[in-house]
Amino acid sequence: MADEPIITLRGVTKTYGEGATAFQALKGVDLDIAEGDFVAVMGPSGSGKSTTMNMLGCLDVPTNGSFLFKGVEVGHLDRDQRALLRRKYLGFVFQGFNLLSRTTALENVELPLVYRGEDKKTRHDLGMAALDKVGLADWWDHTPAELSGGQQQRVAIARAIVTSPAVLLADEPTGNLDSERSVEIMQLLSGLNRDSNITVLMVTHEPDMAAFARTLVHFKDGLVERIETNKKVPEPV
Ligand SMILES: Nc1ncnc2c1ncn2[C@@H]1O[C@H](COP(=O)(O)OP(=O)(O)O)[C@@H](O)[C@H]1O
Ligand SMILES: [Mg+2]
Repeated sequence: MADEPIITLRGVTKTYGEGATAFQALKGVDLDIAEGDFVAVMGPSGSGKSTTMNMLGCLDVPTNGSFLFKGVEVGHLDRDQRALLRRKYLGFVFQGFNLLSRTTALENVELPLVYRGEDKKTRHDLGMAALDKVGLADWWDHTPAELSGGQQQRVAIARAIVTSPAVLLADEPTGNLDSERSVEIMQLLSGLNRDSNITVLMVTHEPDMAAFARTLVHFKDGLVERIETNKKVPEPV
């Protein structure tokens, strides 16, 4: 791990709405994320986990405070600049998989490369390599309806890593999966974290899933309540 954190938040606030209906979802968050770490973000519903993830994913901006990414202030970038940052450095995995339904696994995985303007052969080669990393190379021509939930989430992970992002953001990635499939997804994320040195940030409310992470960040009422280091991280398989 590098000495300088890949992500630093200082005094970050987020207020939704204005005037009488304004609601402060984040009340001054300080957080350092080390490069290469595997972080589980935990806390009760409404404590600000998704708000923080959306900000770290450059999908939304802080109201106040500082957000450094690789040492550069990015909290006040405009929409286009944030889109570029996402495309270059970030990968996303969602609870609901968010795959295009009439499209093969490979085409889903190739999509971020289309946005990047990669040519057909590059898209195919990188797409197949990403599917191989999640154990689904043989399933490249199947549509989401022909895949199980666990397989769909693997395709979504392949899509998230096909651009070799520095950071993978996952908001409740196992929320729609049974416990066996959830453990498989966590093992996959652990392996990617170790082998590809991707910094993984994952929201989960399940302690069994958080147990795969090295750092546990607990949110409460719009603040980081405490940070734990997990000394018993399982070996990736
Ligand atoms: N777009 C929004 N507009 C207004 N309030 C919001 C919005 N998004 C989230 N909130 C509120 O901010 C608080 C934190 O939400 P969120 O970050 O989604 O929590 P968590 O992911 O921990 O459940 C909640 O009280 C929620 O209702
Ligand atoms: Mg949430």
